[in-house]
Amino acid sequence: MKDKLERIMKEAMDQIESSNELNKLNDIRVNFLGKKGELTSVLKGMKDVAPEDRPKVGQMVNDARAKIEERLENKKAGFEKKLREEKMKAEVIDVTLPGKPLKIGHRHPNTIVLEEVQNIFIGMGYEVVGGPEIEKDYYNFEALNIPANHPAKDEQDTFYLNNEFLLRTQTSSAQVHVMEKGKLPIRMISPGRVFRSDEVDATHSPCFHQIEGLVIDKNVTFADLKGTLAEFAKKLFGEDTKVKFRPHHFPFTEPSAEVDVSCFKCGGKGCRFCKGEGWIEILGCGMVHPHVLEMSGIDPEEYVGFAFGVGLERITLLKYEIDDMRLLYENDQRFLDQF
Ligand code: DAH
Repeated sequence: MKDKLERIMKEAMDQIESSNELNKLNDIRVNFLGKKGELTSVLKGMKDVAPEDRPKVGQMVNDARAKIEERLENKKAGFEKKLREEKMKAEVIDVTLPGKPLKIGHRHPNTIVLEEVQNIFIGMGYEVVGGPEIEKDYYNFEALNIPANHPAKDEQDTFYLNNEFLLRTQTSSAQVHVMEKGKLPIRMISPGRVFRSDEVDATHSPCFHQIEGLVIDKNVTFADLKGTLAEFAKKLFGEDTKVKFRPHHFPFTEPSAEVDVSCFKCGGKGCRFCKGEGWIEILGCGMVHPHVLEMSGIDPEEYVGFAFGVGLERITLLKYEIDDMRLLYENDQRFLDQF
């Protein structure tokens, strides 16, 4: 019996030793220790063993089982360790490799300037309102005192969608929507896209941005308009900036003016930047025409107002000294990264 046990053990150990994969170990376990395994069959033959020898033989079988089991476990742990090591080697990460820098975007220069302009006017108590880009002729022209045959209509080269609708050529149309609501007084700016069928070049684009301003209250004067725009120019271009109002004509304001700021590069002496003028034109403005007030249901005897319109791209180009408007639309990262 002892010999038989030793033979079984040796065979089991040899098989374990020479096994070269995890699955084999399982087969070996079943073959030797399983229900129909060799050791079990030895136990089944106990009935042929003399009763006094049975405890001893039982002990021997148990020892043999424990040894085989221990050997199996060790071998299994060895396999698992090897597998783990191979996996680690295959998945090795070189922590000394430099990382790939993440490209982080930021606001477009137009957006930066728009937010700056908005903050200046919000600081003066203005509200920021939107307006539709698709307009009826009435809002874009008629209600702004630009009647059917007015040359301004040709001048502005409008994109008409059909007989009724067009793409607004100016944010001034937003003035009409705000006035129509009838909530007075009004103190608002309205930024947005406008459209004109212009050829693309360094200073023109068929789609660009304006910021409209409108103030309507009792006793508003041209002095208020001048003070407001002078303050705006100082905040935007620097405290030393001076403003100059030149008489001009817009159908919806009377009187009207164009506003120049003193060149912030040369301080007004004249340089390449201001083309030797010392002044740079930045916006149009004026006192809201009484007829415009009337058409939107505001009594011009009681209320007066002023309005202004700024080209956003123009301001952005000036502020950042960019000499070609197309750069603002191309979204070339090498350009945009600079802001
Ligand atoms: N809408 C004018 C334009 O597109 C700009 C403008 C001038 C707006 C005078 C105004 C204003 O509100 O009072 O050229």
